[in-house]
Amino acid sequence: QPIPLKELFKDHFPIGAAVTPNHMDSRTPHGRALIQHFNSLVAENVMKPDALQRVKGTYTWANADRIIQFAKENNMLVRGHTLTWHSQTPDWFFYDENGELHTPEVAMKQLEEHITAVVSRYKGDVYAWDVVNEAMFDWDPNGQIIYREDSPWYKIMGPAYIDSAFVYAHRADPDAKLFYNDYNSIFSWKRNKIFDLVKRLKDNNIPIHGVGLQGHWNVGTSIQDLRTTLELFRGLGVEIQITELDLSVYLSPNEPGSTTYTEQFNMRQRIAYPEIFRVLLDYSDVITGVTFWGIGDDASWLDTPGRKHFPFLLDEQLQPKPAYLEVQRLI
Ligand code: XIL
Repeated sequence: QPIPLKELFKDHFPIGAAVTPNHMDSRTPHGRALIQHFNSLVAENVMKPDALQRVKGTYTWANADRIIQFAKENNMLVRGHTLTWHSQTPDWFFYDENGELHTPEVAMKQLEEHITAVVSRYKGDVYAWDVVNEAMFDWDPNGQIIYREDSPWYKIMGPAYIDSAFVYAHRADPDAKLFYNDYNSIFSWKRNKIFDLVKRLKDNNIPIHGVGLQGHWNVGTSIQDLRTTLELFRGLGVEIQITELDLSVYLSPNEPGSTTYTEQFNMRQRIAYPEIFRVLLDYSDVITGVTFWGIGDDASWLDTPGRKHFPFLLDEQLQPKPAYLEVQRLI
């Protein structure tokens, strides 16, 4: 008999899901599944800069407000995602009317205004923010390239925007937990860059409280890399959250796609899911949240026509999968 996820992990960490505003209705299957299993929410898209301030100076709060409201009605935490990113951010943040990059002064001012407005509005409602998302360079075994240099933020002012974003967010809500969030963050080539960044910020007294490991993994992802990463960040004295967990059934991008959940997929996830959660439980002293990047296998951002990833513990009908019961056996 499945025990709701939030009950299962109640002594360890909150369990969250990424949602869209149409899920925010207790009469829908998604709304019901959220209420049953989750005690934390994050907006999959509607709190990103292009959703909140598409046009400079004009904020659109309605969708984000619905998520906050639903969370309040159902006693759930809300994570804020995300304040500073190179993607899903309107061009006006970066370019003037002639298509030239803004000066650092102009871009910084706009960043400050955005962060101040958003964090102030949800002060007391959003307990943790992804302040900066994906600022490090993704693939560089020799560690020569530190930052993601194709980010317009970086092009305008180098890494200075990272430090400032945390300062602005902290000023607007001194009680909010502030996170740096990134993907591929458990792999040696990137985890060390993230470590150096967080250490530098802490050494400079920049208000940062945690690291978000996105958790876009698959059934073959190395448990050892995960452990090493958790150990490393525990040593830094910061919180760790798994912010965007989805465990694709494929071992590589070359594996042929399927739109049905085969017995092979089922077997892979029955093994991989409890392995991952075993590690997360072992580090529950520093892990302060685990959030899935969706609700159930009916919809994932990873899915493409002919290739579904079935990455969650709830199936397409939002019912517990066999992997769910394996995870439950850990407790
Ligand atoms: C994704 C959403 O899931 C999609 O709906 C959207 O089209 C693109 O963004 N890393 C992040 C998330 O930090 O914001 C991304 O979300 C997935 C990768």
